[in-house]
Amino acid sequence: MDKNCFVSITDLSKEDILNLLEDVKYFEENPNQTILNGKIVATLFFEPSTRTRLSFETAVNRLGGKVIGFSDASTTSSSKGETLKDTIKMVSNYADLIVMRHYLEGAARYASEVSSVPIVNAGDGSNQHPSQTMLDLYSIWKTQGTLENINIVMVGDLKYGRTVHSLLQALSLFNPTFHFVAPKELEMPEEYKVFCDKNNIKYIEYREFTDDVINLADIIYMTRVQRERFTDLIEYEKVKNVYTLHNSMLENSKPNVKILHPLPRVNEIAYDVDENPKAYYFQQAKNGLFARQAIICKMLGISTKKQQ
Ligand code: CP
Repeated sequence: MDKNCFVSITDLSKEDILNLLEDVKYFEENPNQTILNGKIVATLFFEPSTRTRLSFETAVNRLGGKVIGFSDASTTSSSKGETLKDTIKMVSNYADLIVMRHYLEGAARYASEVSSVPIVNAGDGSNQHPSQTMLDLYSIWKTQGTLENINIVMVGDLKYGRTVHSLLQALSLFNPTFHFVAPKELEMPEEYKVFCDKNNIKYIEYREFTDDVINLADIIYMTRVQRERFTDLIEYEKVKNVYTLHNSMLENSKPNVKILHPLPRVNEIAYDVDENPKAYYFQQAKNGLFARQAIICKMLGISTKKQQ
C-alpha cells in the first residue's frame, strides 16, 4: 500500500487481499477488543452516508479507540472557503488516521499526498470505494467458499457506481466472468472494459435483465441508479427504475447464488426478495464492520495475528 493509505483497491495485491480477508474473519469472531486504545480516527464525510460512516465509527468504538469528525461539511470551515488541503493538514494534527468520503473523483488520492497520517478512501465520486470492496469480497468469499472463477452479474448503474468499479478491479485477480446488465446510458465505462481486455477477463454485456442471466449467476450484484451524479435530472428520470429484482425471478437460480447490493436501495430489489435465503445484502452490510476493523488495524500497523 502507498504510504499506508487505502485510496484504491488496486493498492492491494492478490496476496494482500487474501491476508486482509483472514483479518476480517478474525474480527468477525473477535469484534470487541481494546487494541485501538489511545488511537483517534477522524471520519470526514463531505457526502451523505449511513453504512460506511457508522460502520467505520462502530469499528473504532468496538476496538477501544476514539472518533472525531463530521457528517455534514456545511458545519465546517470548508463552508467558509477552507481548502481540502488545509482541512486535511489540520485534521492530520489531531488524528492518527483519516477516513474520508468526497464527491470529487481523485480527492482521496490528493488527500493522501498532503496528509501526514494514513487516508482511507470512503468513496470519491464515481471512482472508487475500496473499503466497500473488501466487505463485498468477504461476502463472496464467505458465501461461495472462494473468490476464484465466480460468475458475477452486475446490474444497474455501472457508469456512476463506484462500488462496481472497485469490485471489478479486485475480482479480476481471481479469474471471474462478468455479466454487465445496464442500459446504454449507464453501461460500464470503456476504461473498465479495456482493463478487462488487457487482463484477459471475460465479460458479456446485456440490456435486458432476464432469467437466462440470473440463472447462470453465483453472485447478483444489484446497484442503485446514482441520482446525485446526474447533471440533467430528466435523464435520471428516464432510467431510474430500469431494473427491479423480484422474488419470482429467482425461481430457477443456482442454489449457491447470493444477492448483493451495497445499499441504500431505492427500487432495485423488491421487498419480497428480503425473506429469500439467497438475499445477502443485510449480512453484507454487517460484514462492513469487520472489514473496516481489519482495514483500520492494517493502516495503523496494528497486528491482529499476535492477538490470536
Ligand atoms: N454502501 C454505502 O456506501 O452506503 P452508505 O452510502 O450508506 O455509506
